[in-house]
Amino acid sequence: MVDIEQLNPRNEAALRAWWEVGRAATAYRPGKPWPAWELSRLALPADNPERGTTLIGAIDGREMIGAGLLTRPLQDNLHAANAYAYVQPTRQREGIGTALLAELEVVAAGDGRTTLQSEVYLPPGTDGGPAAFAAARGFAVANREALKELTLSHYVARRDDLAASAPVPSGYRIVTFDTVCPDEHLASYCRLLGMLLAEVPLGELDLTDSGWDEARVRAAERRLVDIGRHMLTALAIAPDGAVAGVSDVRINDADQTAGEVGITLVDPAHRGHRLGTALKLATHDLALANYPQLVSVDTANADVNVHMNAVNDALGYRTIETVLELQKKL
Ligand SMILES: CC(C)(COP(=O)(O)OP(=O)(O)OC[C@H]1O[C@@H](n2cnc3c(N)ncnc32)[C@H](O)[C@@H]1OP(=O)(O)O)[C@@H](O)C(=O)NCCC(=O)NCCS
Repeated sequence: MVDIEQLNPRNEAALRAWWEVGRAATAYRPGKPWPAWELSRLALPADNPERGTTLIGAIDGREMIGAGLLTRPLQDNLHAANAYAYVQPTRQREGIGTALLAELEVVAAGDGRTTLQSEVYLPPGTDGGPAAFAAARGFAVANREALKELTLSHYVARRDDLAASAPVPSGYRIVTFDTVCPDEHLASYCRLLGMLLAEVPLGELDLTDSGWDEARVRAAERRLVDIGRHMLTALAIAPDGAVAGVSDVRINDADQTAGEVGITLVDPAHRGHRLGTALKLATHDLALANYPQLVSVDTANADVNVHMNAVNDALGYRTIETVLELQKKL
C-alpha cells in the first residue's frame, strides 16, 4: 500500500528522503540534472516571494519511493503551476508517477490554477520514456528546447577570438554585478524584465508578462543572497543610460563547479549590435574570475530561437538533451 503525503520542507529527514528519490530518478541523465543537497536543503524551506512550493512523497511502509513537486508563480501567471514527478527507478511502471501527478493536480486546482506545465528531458532524437508518461497523463508538447552545456575549457580556448569579433558597440558599456543590481540601473532594469516573457519564444506555453517593480526585484535578490545562489549579471547600458540588455550565469555556493544561464534579453530597440554576445562574454568571464573551479555551464533555448542559438554555439555550447515543455489544461 503506497501512501501519498504532503511533506514539510522544514523536516530535514523527510526532505532528504524526497531529494534522494529525485536524484535516483534523474541519475540516468547527462550533466547535472539534480541540485546539490546543500542547495535543496536551503532553498526548499526558505520563503520565496516569487513561487509557492508543495512537496509530496509516495511512501511504501517507511520508505519514500516517489517524489512530487508543485510550484506556483505568486507574482504573475496566477492561472499556472508546474508539476514534476520522480519515481525510484526500481519502482517505476507501478502507477506511482500517476498517483503523484494526480495529487499535484488536486493541489494546483485547489489553489485556483487552471494550466499545469511540466518538462521532460530526452536524449536528442529520441522519444518515449518520460514523454510517453506525460502523454499518457494528458500533457501536450507546448514548446521544444535544446539543453546545452558549455565546458569552460572550450570557452577559454575560443573567447579571445570571439571577443575580437564582437566588441562592445560604440557608445554602449557593460556593467556587471553579483546578484544585487546597482541602484542607478534598477528602474530601467525593471522595465527590461517586464518584456521578458513577451520576447522569449515560448511556443504554446500559456504565460504572460507582468510588471517588475523595484520592491519585487529587491525581494527576489534577497532570497538568492539568503540561499547562497549567485546571479552573476551583465547589463548593457545604452548611450542614453537605459538598460538595453541583460544576461546572467547562476552559481550556487553549494556546488561551485556547475553554473546555469538564467535570462538573456536584448531590448528589440537595441538588437543587431552583437550585444547578446558581448553580454554573454561578460557573464562567462565574471563567472570564471569569481569561480576558477567552474567546470560547466548549462542553458536551454527554444529550437526556433535562431539568434540565441548562434551566440551559444559560438561560445562553445553543445546540445546534450532535448527538453519538451509540456502543458495540460485542468
Ligand atoms: C516519468 C516517471 C515519473 C513515471 O513514473 P511511473 O511511476 O513509472 O509512472 P506510471 O507507472 O504511473 O506510468 C503511467 C503510464 O505512463 C506511461 N509510461 C511511464 N513510463 C514509461 C516508459 N518508460 N516508457 C513508455 N511509457 C511509459 C505508460 O503509459 C504507463 O502506463 P502503463 O505502465 O500501464 O503502460 C518516472 O519514469 C521517472 O521518475 N522518471 C524520471 C523523472 C522524470 O522524467 N519525470 C518527469 C517529469 S514530470
